[in-house]
Amino acid sequence: REFRINIAIDGPAGAGKSTVARMVASKLSYVYVDTGAMYRAVTWDMLNQGIEAEDVTGVLERMKAIDIELVPGEDGQRVTLSGYDVTDEIRSLAVNRTVSRYAQIEGLRAELSAAQRQMALRKGVVMDGRDIGTTVLPDAEVKIFMTATVEERARRRFRELPESGEVITLQQLEREIAERDELDRSREVSPLMCADDASVLDTTNMTINEVADEIVRLADREIARLGK
Ligand code: CDP
Ligand code: CDP
Repeated sequence: REFRINIAIDGPAGAGKSTVARMVASKLSYVYVDTGAMYRAVTWDMLNQGIEAEDVTGVLERMKAIDIELVPGEDGQRVTLSGYDVTDEIRSLAVNRTVSRYAQIEGLRAELSAAQRQMALRKGVVMDGRDIGTTVLPDAEVKIFMTATVEERARRRFRELPESGEVITLQQLEREIAERDELDRSREVSPLMCADDASVLDTTNMTINEVADEIVRLADREIARLGK
């Protein structure tokens, strides 16, 4: 596998993007880039600073003062904000509930997208998010649009909750996921949507391994075709 490609994975919350992207990256010895973590880190910082998403000038001003880094680590990717590890903090319900509002801001997206493009320049990257195949890496050799019913996605997220200690009902979680999807799909700047040339994978009735194997198969096919 000398010839390297980039793999873009997009889709709504809980579709399985990050879990599968991490597995695919590991199987191919590629680098995994979780772009959602960058939007989450910005959001966590803004909530801390008391800067609301409606205050666009305030958000963009604050962006100049912060530095977000994705650091590959032994137990997966760590996220640092101006050097401070926020990997666990950014998964909170408070961040879940507000991230899509900050993610609507054009200047913020431009800055994060540019950083993401930089990370993919040398190829061999598996990147997941909402606008990777459409906006960040439109030339990615393999593009996946991963979906699952909102009921299934909420169930998956519900099963993860005990670890975090936060309390919410399955119904409420499903409502919040649907709201976030709606904001992500309807925003003006690079909304969540399937790229014309993406392969759609409905993971509702698929295991994580089945999804990962399918993406590795598509990647191997492209690597063989382009590497000739
Ligand atoms: O893990 P989960 O699917 O819940 O979300 P995430 O991938 O961590 O992304 C969190 C939020 O960041 C999304 O709901 C989007 O509002 C935003 N996001 C985005 O706008 N563009 C991306 N490329 C990645 C995330
Ligand atoms: O990144 P995204 O929000 O798309 O989803 P994720 O965080 O990778 O997956 C959410 C949860 O669903 C994780 O706990 C996965 O283990 C689980 N999952 C699953 O049970 N079956 C799949 N086919 C995909 C994910």
